[in-house]
Amino acid sequence: RLPVVLGISGSLRKQSTNTRLLSFIGGMMPEGVVFHMHDDLAALPHFNPDFDHDPAQEDEAVHIWRAQLKAADAIMICTPEYARGVPGSLKNALDWVVSSGEFVGKPTAVISASPHPDGGAIALHSLTLTLTMMSAVIPDEATVSIPFASKIVGADGLVTDAGTLSSLKNLIQVLTRAF
Ligand code: FNR
Repeated sequence: RLPVVLGISGSLRKQSTNTRLLSFIGGMMPEGVVFHMHDDLAALPHFNPDFDHDPAQEDEAVHIWRAQLKAADAIMICTPEYARGVPGSLKNALDWVVSSGEFVGKPTAVISASPHPDGGAIALHSLTLTLTMMSAVIPDEATVSIPFASKIVGADGLVTDAGTLSSLKNLIQVLTRAF
């Protein structure tokens, strides 16, 4: 079976820069690596520990979310920053897998893209703390914040800036190194 990288966007927005960027990065995967996206964070119910442990009560969207994470060999999250934090829909999705443990030992890359000069670095940092607590494996150089993202990511989703391309190539290389 070919190794799978699962892409997760922290933005639900149709025209999201982060989602476009994630698709672009998906197209940069090395030969023999399958990339697909989880695109239904909005289907997840609000996290409630009362429904966390009983398989008979597992919501269908939660089941799919957990199964896709489990089946992935690596994860790539690309997220905006909302009010200096991780967007609620993404944090909610992560809360569903704290105790079920799908991130344990999972190679994970984290990207934040923002039109602001700091590139969503605070959300990136916060997300990294959360994932580390969940025992995800975040290799050095697998976290990148992309400032001025509305200029860096074209309307067609293409990235041409040499510096950004180089850090993305490097991020993919460190993420898929173990395959
Ligand atoms: C933002 N934005 C933003 N940007 C940032 O760098 N730091 C922040 O704290 C915030 N806060 C924030 C809150 C809310 C509610 C919104 C809607 C937006 C701007 C954000 O980076 C911009 O809208 C991006 O384009 C969002 O990413 P997507 O949806 O294009 O991927």
